[in-house]
Amino acid sequence: RKPVTVPGLHAMKAEGRRIAMLTAYDASFAWQLESAGVDVALVGDSLGMVMQGHASTLPVTLDHMVYHTAMVARGVSATMLVADLPFMADRDLPHVLEAGARLVGEAGAAMVKIEGGAPHILAAIEALTVRAIPVCAHLGLTPQSVHKFGGFRIQGREQEAADRVLAEALAVESAGADLLVLEGVPVALGERVTKAVKIPVIGIGAGPHCDGQVLVIQDMLGITRGKRPKFSKDFLIGHDSVAAAITAYVADVRSGAFPAPEHCFN
Ligand code: KIV
Ligand code: NA
Repeated sequence: RKPVTVPGLHAMKAEGRRIAMLTAYDASFAWQLESAGVDVALVGDSLGMVMQGHASTLPVTLDHMVYHTAMVARGVSATMLVADLPFMADRDLPHVLEAGARLVGEAGAAMVKIEGGAPHILAAIEALTVRAIPVCAHLGLTPQSVHKFGGFRIQGREQEAADRVLAEALAVESAGADLLVLEGVPVALGERVTKAVKIPVIGIGAGPHCDGQVLVIQDMLGITRGKRPKFSKDFLIGHDSVAAAITAYVADVRSGAFPAPEHCFN
């Protein structure tokens, strides 16, 4: 299969072909994503929760991200590899650039993801972009802000908050972001943002109108610790292997069958 590229992702949005993205944290699962035709593999800092057992993503360090990204890089070839900037990698531009250099240059990511739309995040997106490191922005329920939100809560429910998310989406696009993950927002806001920006919008709990979908792989294989999030679906139900479950996920994202109304917020 043809390698997934940044221009290729832009073309998918332009042509209305939905993008299937999943997290991976090691070479074994990376190879499963590769074989099933997943477009984008995300080494999420959710590894702090699903790999390390923490209650949030905040304890994850740049060294942890580099270690897991390098392992996933050995499992993928055509699948595009995106790696998260960990908590506080945005403390200043030297740290942002160091994180970009290590995740892309050392570990093998093709793109880095950064949470938020504040002015210093826009500066970070610009600084990475001018150095030819593609950036995926992440807005809405940004898990690194869990203490400010008071929990993992749906964002953009009130008009003013929704308008703020939309303004941030336009700002991260102007700063140079090539992709946008939109997490934990009402369906109507997911649709507004997706129509307002030219870059592909990948939703997680953001409704069916996004240009693609992403899930944490533990959630879509039914091995979530505790209650599986409402926006996720266990694709192992009705499928007899990990490979079959991931293949079904890709098919359902492409057709628009996932997410269904029961996975969405209104
Ligand atoms: O860390 C992660 O897995 C993520 C996705 C849920 C978007 O950021
Ligand atoms: Na993340």
